[in-house]
Amino acid sequence: MHLAIRFAGLFAAAAMLAGSVGPAAAQDYPTRPITLIVPFAAGGPTDVIARIVGDHMSKTLGQQLVIENVVGAGGTTASTRAMRATNDGYTIIMGHMGTHAASVALYPNLAYHPTKDFEPIGMAAGTPVLILAKKDFPAKDLKEFISYVKANVDKLNMAHAGVGSVSFTTCLLLNSIMGVKPTSVPYQGTGPAMNALIGGQVDYLCDQIVNAVPQINGGTIKTYGVATAERNPSLPDVPTTKEAGLPEFQASAWNGLFAPKGTPKPVTEKLSAALDKALDDEPTRKRLLDLGSDIPGKDRRGPEAFAKLVASEIERWSPVIKSSGVTQ
Ligand code: MLT
Repeated sequence: MHLAIRFAGLFAAAAMLAGSVGPAAAQDYPTRPITLIVPFAAGGPTDVIARIVGDHMSKTLGQQLVIENVVGAGGTTASTRAMRATNDGYTIIMGHMGTHAASVALYPNLAYHPTKDFEPIGMAAGTPVLILAKKDFPAKDLKEFISYVKANVDKLNMAHAGVGSVSFTTCLLLNSIMGVKPTSVPYQGTGPAMNALIGGQVDYLCDQIVNAVPQINGGTIKTYGVATAERNPSLPDVPTTKEAGLPEFQASAWNGLFAPKGTPKPVTEKLSAALDKALDDEPTRKRLLDLGSDIPGKDRRGPEAFAKLVASEIERWSPVIKSSGVTQ
């Protein structure tokens, strides 16, 4: 019995040592590829942003950031996995407004807490949200969209990327403003949800702009407004929701990098510096801006500003979600 306890103690000590990084290792970091977990399917907004900034960060760090798409439960499966990963800087995650803010109120038994179980590395991009519909949706503007949805809600399907995602949470707000509860159809990301919208299998979707610009410009889907105070330079003809008659619907998401709690500071500092450099790189900026993203200015970059954003977003979304009565 005594021996068993001693062995268990030795085992725990060995496991702790395996999970920690000494000062020398942190200084040499990174010496091998870094896994960047994307909590949604490939081809969606989180994946696209992760690949764009990840490309440049790989050059700066001298090691590849290898994207791993881990899907399920609106991004919370991947976030739980990232939280439990060894905290040595070789596993990080591209979280967002859903996985690291809205999920807190949506999942009372969430395995992680965004502010307690992660080290913030920095915000990567802001992503305004658009109201999107299939191309033959019978409404010419936002006012007609609202009337049509209210009159026909029993026949309509709203696509989203799972409870906890940006698309779920922002459409929860839109639906509560309109006073409707359509059938909701979950996908493993808005990459596949967008394909369903293009194919006309679903009627509407609230999605981040980076997923939508090429489709809107190509005429494969419709948009009724961007839910930000200003029009977006990548879609200058698309009205804001305020201009189109629904000022209450304001929604903009953000994506950013997190490491598991306890990742050594020299490691997170290297990652933050590499992210900062990516956001200053002209070709990287162009790729992000062409897709409508909002690139954070210097004052919104880095771990401190990002930690404040995460805390304030948990505050913003929790009452919206609680008043909707939706939890998992
Ligand atoms: C995705 O990459 O699929 C999205 O960020 C999903 C979402 O949160 O709506």
